[in-house]
Amino acid sequence: MKLDTGKSASVSDAVASRITVRDFLPKPVDPDVLREIFEKARRTPSGGNLQPWNVHVFTGEKLDDFRNEVVGKLMKGQSEQDTFPPYPAPLWEPQRSWRYKLGEDMYNLLDIPKDDKPARMRQVGKNFLFFGAPVGIIIVGDKRLEVPQYYDIGIYLQTVMLLAREAGLHTAPQGAWRAFPDTAKKHTNHPDEHHVLVGMSLGYVNADAPVNSLYADRAELDELVKFHK
Ligand SMILES: Cc1cc2nc3c(=O)[nH]c(=O)nc-3n(C[C@H](O)[C@H](O)[C@H](O)COP(=O)(O)O)c2cc1C
Repeated sequence: MKLDTGKSASVSDAVASRITVRDFLPKPVDPDVLREIFEKARRTPSGGNLQPWNVHVFTGEKLDDFRNEVVGKLMKGQSEQDTFPPYPAPLWEPQRSWRYKLGEDMYNLLDIPKDDKPARMRQVGKNFLFFGAPVGIIIVGDKRLEVPQYYDIGIYLQTVMLLAREAGLHTAPQGAWRAFPDTAKKHTNHPDEHHVLVGMSLGYVNADAPVNSLYADRAELDELVKFHK
């Protein structure tokens, strides 16, 4: 699939052309366009209409202060307690292999060999620069949420990601932000009852960056979907 830097003309187009972008142009996003995305995303459905997302959108100096502090901590080898683990451990098949393949495909594109751990860590570290995006988003939610509300947060994420495509923008959903919940809280100033659920980078894709040519594999339709008739 060719990287689509234009606007999506349809939902199918937005779904097909959305990828996780891991290198953004520094070009700012028009504040009205940004606001409109979140205005439209209000229509995201949620069980019982709980709307369990609380969204913090960073741009400009606020964004730079936030990411510089996190990257400063990373460089000093400082870490924080993750909100919760990213995956079940150990992972089982076929999920384990899918995850492995994603990493290999990405590092191959970046020409980073398996044994070059520092280079791999530097790439992971780019998460905390919001991949150079002009917009950084942290979604927090109440610690008392149950599993179904996490589905709702996922639906919200996808709604924002598809609306971004319609506006000619790209995104990177980022669980990585659960690794710096204390610094995130300092910048969001969210209440103690909330915790960090997920982050997201948003902006214009750097179409020249090799990492953005990754069009991640998917399972074949019949592997995961059974039509009962
Ligand atoms: C909830 C969620 C969290 C994710 N967290 C990260 C992350 O922290 N860093 C990252 O580089 N990619 C992250 N991803 C991107 C996935 O790796 C990506 O969606 C998957 O490999 C499929 O690729 P695609 O989004 O390009 O289609 C995340 C995706 C989702 C949906």
